[in-house]
Amino acid sequence: MNNEHTFQLPDQLSTFAPGVDWLFYFIYWTSVVMFLGITSAALYFTWKYRRSVSPKSEPTGHNVPLEVAWTVAPVILLAMIFHWGFQGYVKLTVVPANAMDIRVRARKWSWDFEYPNGGHSTNSEAPGQPGGLHVPVGRPVRLVISSEDVLHAMYIPGFRVKRDAVPGYYSTLWFEATREGQTHFFCAEYCGAAGNTPAADGSYAGHFNMQGEVHMDSPQAFSAFLEAINGPPSDCPAGANQAACWGEKLYRSQQCFTCHSVNGSPMTGPTWQGIWGRQEHFTDGTTGVVDENYVRESILNPSAHVVQGFQPVMPTFRGTLNDRQLDAIIAYMRTLHN
Ligand code: CUA
Repeated sequence: MNNEHTFQLPDQLSTFAPGVDWLFYFIYWTSVVMFLGITSAALYFTWKYRRSVSPKSEPTGHNVPLEVAWTVAPVILLAMIFHWGFQGYVKLTVVPANAMDIRVRARKWSWDFEYPNGGHSTNSEAPGQPGGLHVPVGRPVRLVISSEDVLHAMYIPGFRVKRDAVPGYYSTLWFEATREGQTHFFCAEYCGAAGNTPAADGSYAGHFNMQGEVHMDSPQAFSAFLEAINGPPSDCPAGANQAACWGEKLYRSQQCFTCHSVNGSPMTGPTWQGIWGRQEHFTDGTTGVVDENYVRESILNPSAHVVQGFQPVMPTFRGTLNDRQLDAIIAYMRTLHN
């Protein structure tokens, strides 16, 4: 039980884990002992006072010391369990003042993580693009969690923490990772699925997609990660248009391709091929040229100017893409000539 590996629980990877597991096993083994004791006593008395031996039952009267004992003993036991449980609850609830905040946004069906430097990652880990939830080892981290649509829940079994993501409300969760490595996190609140039709890339979307890896980084690795999410991916070839390469990766990782082609064919939204500088007619009767400001507006406030022939169905990427990422997408668009 003092080891990281336990018989039926995941590895202990946070400062909470040993205490939570200790209390869990205390309650578990107390229950086992009580169950065996009570069941064997019942079986023994059933046999001892069977009808062939004692055909008549007799009133036994009171045994005050015995009755006091079986009342007081469980009260002491339950008070102890309450005390340890409440201590643990206070520990899990009171965030240390030096905790680092990570903003967590849940939506159908992915997680967005925003770090103190404004960089983002999601639960999906595309090659060359750092992803997953990264946390430094040995430092308290507070997750400030919200939901953009329905109930979700952030659940990190290795840390022994779980908290609901509630629409219109911030919930918080804190932990301190104790060693470097990786552990899985899940959405622990069934939040639906898109049905049985796969998306354009053949994948299915739903609750089961809302999972990924928590990377418990050394302080050096964590700074390197913060650096990486605020710049072009490391596998963009040197000498290439770094911003456009980054933009193309965002086009894939943010799943722009499910609605926007780059080969000229119209999908749910206008194609990006030849989009730069194009004169567009909007559904409100106005016209405009596709430039930096139009692209930025369309990503952050998609229903402001919808191109004629399309529906205002695009979700906003406000809070998901930072300014440098918007620049990268613009740089990528500019390479998509007719
Ligand atoms: Cu989100 Cu289940």
